[in-house]
Amino acid sequence: MGRLLTIEIDPATAKKAEGYFERAGVSGIVTVKIGDAREVVRSIEGPVDFLFLDCNAPNYLPCLQGIERSLAPGATVVADNVGISEGELADYFEHVRREPYKTHTEWFNVTLPWTKRDAMEISTKPRTSAGRDPRRAPSPPVPNPPAAKDDAEKKILEVLDDMDRNQRPRMLNVPIEDGRLLRILAESIGAKHVVEIGMSNGYSGIWFCLALRKTGGHLTTHEIDEKRASLARENFRRAGVADLVTIVMGEAHETVKKIAEPIDLLFIDADKEGYPDYLAKLLPLVRPAVIIACPKSPLRAAGIAVTLKKR
Ligand SMILES: C[S@@+](CC[C@H](N)C(=O)[O-])C[C@H]1O[C@@H](n2cnc3c(N)ncnc32)[C@H](O)[C@@H]1O
Repeated sequence: MGRLLTIEIDPATAKKAEGYFERAGVSGIVTVKIGDAREVVRSIEGPVDFLFLDCNAPNYLPCLQGIERSLAPGATVVADNVGISEGELADYFEHVRREPYKTHTEWFNVTLPWTKRDAMEISTKPRTSAGRDPRRAPSPPVPNPPAAKDDAEKKILEVLDDMDRNQRPRMLNVPIEDGRLLRILAESIGAKHVVEIGMSNGYSGIWFCLALRKTGGHLTTHEIDEKRASLARENFRRAGVADLVTIVMGEAHETVKKIAEPIDLLFIDADKEGYPDYLAKLLPLVRPAVIIACPKSPLRAAGIAVTLKKR
């Protein structure tokens, strides 16, 4: 027998619904959870076969991302009212209209005063799952999450968590596991100068800053896209690490030529074709026996390649 788990933020409405389930004689197979669906979905244990999204349109994507790891292979996701809320759903469409989902928009007639047409977006996850794309989905709960040592670190970790949950679409951030690894690498070599090519909204940069607070070092990070950079500035500010970071705007193949200070850790995470050029330009500045970390692909991270420059 199947089960329904349904989420409602308003306790009074949830109570009413419980009454109706009772009267309909189905309360034995229904669980009503009260709370913000974006939070509640993260605690749901899978496998989930069917997800119906019918809350505020801007919450569709965070809800889907929060539950994604629990979706069974072959699961169906139905998003309601995507015709009338089209304008608010660009991120959601971008998400489900790409691999691994198969999706279609089912239009139908309605008789509402303001519209005669609406649609549902019906998406299925293939039975042979290609797995989570770690750069697009929020990270699943990590065993032993980092414990903050002080209030400043607590604030930084909270900002990282907020970015993980709410800013990932189109930011191409490293997954949380890689962020933790970058921090450990930088801290373990006592890095004084970390150079990053490809800052985006500053997610990996803030992981480096956790290390740089300890090592007394600083980060120079490069970005070409002004929208992502302005998000990054705001993220560095609210994490309280802006004074550890120098942002260099522009085409990094040009701007890196101006770096003069030795580099302890070079993190290349931008245009894939550009990696050899970045290395050629920066390798002379990289200190011997330090770590260079580059995701294998800027689009679909398959891990981090760590390379030591020999003496
Ligand atoms: C994969 S994202 C970086 C993600 C970031 N390291 C993180 O994990 O949070 C790549 C970024 O590199 C930037 N980028 C791509 N080509 C660039 C170039 N030639 N010069 C500067 N930035 C570039 C893109 O705008 C994008 O924000």
